[in-house]
This record gives sequence, C-alpha cells and structure tokens, in this order.
Amino acid sequence: MNITHLECANCHLEHEARRLLNLCSECGKPLLVRYDLARAGQTLTKESLADRRADLWRYREVLPVESDENVVSLGEGWTPLLRAGNLGKQIGFDELYIKDESQNPTQSFKARGMSTAVSMAKELGAKKLAVPSAGNAAGALAAYAARAGLECFIFMPRDTPRANVVECEQTGAHVTLMDGLITDCGAEVGRRKESEGWFDVSTLKEPYRVEGKKTLGYELAEQLNWELPDVIIYPTGGGTGLIGMWKAFNEMEALGWIGSKRPRMVTVQATGCAPIVRAFETGKRFADEFADAATVASGLRVPKAIGDFLILDALRESGGTAIAVTDEELIAATREIGAAEGIFCAPEGAACLPALRKMVEQGAVETSERVVLFNTGAGVKYLEAFGG
Ligand SMILES: Cc1ncc(COP(=O)(O)O)c(C=O)c1O
Ligand SMILES: [Zn+2]
Repeated sequence: MNITHLECANCHLEHEARRLLNLCSECGKPLLVRYDLARAGQTLTKESLADRRADLWRYREVLPVESDENVVSLGEGWTPLLRAGNLGKQIGFDELYIKDESQNPTQSFKARGMSTAVSMAKELGAKKLAVPSAGNAAGALAAYAARAGLECFIFMPRDTPRANVVECEQTGAHVTLMDGLITDCGAEVGRRKESEGWFDVSTLKEPYRVEGKKTLGYELAEQLNWELPDVIIYPTGGGTGLIGMWKAFNEMEALGWIGSKRPRMVTVQATGCAPIVRAFETGKRFADEFADAATVASGLRVPKAIGDFLILDALRESGGTAIAVTDEELIAATREIGAAEGIFCAPEGAACLPALRKMVEQGAVETSERVVLFNTGAGVKYLEAFGG
C-alpha cells in the first residue's frame, strides 16, 4: 500500500488515509490521494505492465485499496483507444482518436470511479452507500455495490434516461426519482446521510472515485506509447475524469514516465448548462451555479461542480479551453460519429466533435495535431434523446 495521506486540493491540509472521509475538515473542498511514488515505482514500471491484467487494476501500485480481497471489479478500464480514420478524413485531421469508454461495465466511464470508490468503502467498513446522479454514475454504483454486497441508495432527477433507472432497479439499488436537478438530489443525500448511516459517494465528495478515473490518463499514455496527445476533449459535468487525468499526468512525471509537456485540456459542455465555460470565459476560478440547466446530454446537466476550480486550473495551466455546443449539434454529431466509425456515442461524448470543429474555427487547434475525443458512455442508454 503506497498511500501516504489525503491532501485537500484547496488548502492542502493533510488528512489521515485509512478513514472513511468526505471533504476537507477545514475548508470543505475535495480531498486527493497522495502516494509514495518512489516506492510505487519500484515495482510499477513501464516494462512490468506488459503481462498485467487488462483492466484498470493493472496500475495497482498507484490505486487505493490495501487488500486485494477488497477489490471490487467487473473488468473496468483498459478500453480501446480507437483511431477515427474516417471521421478524421472528413474533418481534415490525420491523427484523431476516440477513447471508447462505452465498452466499460455498465457502459460508461463511471465504472472506473465506482470500482475504486466501492472497493475503498468496503475496505473501510461502509455498509450503505448513497449517491446523487445524472444516470450513469448511478448505474455503475448499483452494479459495484451489488458485487460488493453493500446496500445502495440512489437519487436521480425524474427525467433521467429510463435505461439508467431500470439498470439500477435490476441490480438491486434503492432508487428515488426527484423533481429537480442533480444538485437537488445531492442536497437530499446531504440532508439524510447522517441519520440513515449512508456514506456519500458523490463526485469528488469522497477521495477515491477520482483515483479510478485517473487511470484514463495512465491508459492514454500507455496506449500512445508514452507520448501524450496534443489535445484532449472531455465532456465535463463534475469533471472527475479531467481532474483525474491531470493528476495522473503529474504522477507519471514523478514516476519518470513522461516529461513536463501536457496535452491542452478542453472542456465541452452543453449551451443549456455551461458553468465551466462561463467561468473560463470570465476569468473566474470558481464557477457560479448555472440557472435553469437543461440539456439532453444528462451527464452534462451539472449546474454546480465542487471541483470547478480543479477543472479550471487544469484548463488554464495546460493552455486549453472550454467550449459550449448546442443540443442540436451534439445530437447531430452522434449520428455523424456513428455513421463514420461505428461507435454509437453517448450524447455527452458526441459533443466532443462540434467542440473540435469550433476549435478549428477559432484557430485553437491545427489539423496536424493529435487529438483524443472522449466517448464517455453508450448512446443506447439514451433512446429518448434519439426519438426512441
Ligand atoms: C456519459 C457521461 N459523460 C460525461 C459525464 C460527465 O462526467 P464528469 O462528471 O466526470 O465530468 C457524465 C456524468 O454523468 C456522463 O454520464
Ligand atoms: Zn481544505
């Protein structure tokens, strides 16, 4: 076990690692896991990866969980990084890739974070887990909680895609649908968790989901032979994946695996809910809550993210940007990517394509650059959005 401590991402106060904790006891911001990377690097080497398991636990030394017995896995991670040759040709890019996260258990990248978070919750003795969700995180939590033998309580907006509700029910979760947004669901979990004995596994309100998500960064590097892309476009709600990748890049540099060069990190959001884009454009480090949030890309309907400053720091430090696209654009892009590459993207993932087009128009990317789009989930879960 290489964890040294938990560190507040905002005030840097150290917290003890082997306890069930949520936010910083001092400032209420997210806690991040810190490792003894010199120690981790003694066994975790690039060469050692060749014959390791084909899931995210291949990076075992930089993941939490002390005992292998507590690892709760359904085969998450190590998804393909697909060259998008046809689509690339259509839009003039030679080196366009899609990281296809729809191939995870429960068909979205949320499986990564829930695998590590549920494993840790189990190891540290939690019995009941609760989460507010836009849909895919709920489906993932329900599955991993079932596998861990833990009870889980899920709160979703009433208009969450039906597939997400059904998958939670069929994997044994307690599901509550609420009038309102994910923030209202989060407030309900916050109000009741103490009296109900729930451990809150909301995005970035516990330290371990981001650890699973950071493996996106390790995988990208490994799959591109340790040369990171020039640009990463990521559909951003709570931002865990982007924050996780940024953390992974710093860890990999400390491990001596990559240099100091970073990809330009790009957030894409829907125009109907674009708090990070607005904060980026107005030079703020903390985003204002986005009023009347609405988009069919339900994972992007996050009007206020607790990790906003971490997202915005990464965008700015990397020389990246933040772009909003309309629902019409992201729905049209789903069909375009599907027809060109055979990948039926979640609307959130499809949003990366119109974002890339806007970057070209703005002169924010060259067509000779290596670009990775993140397809974070499966289109088949969103039949309503496609008229199904
Ligand atoms: C398919 C999909 N893409 C993107 C997101 C946003 O992810 P994050 O909260 O890590 O920014 C979500 C979140 O629900 C999602 O379900
Ligand atoms: Zn703090």
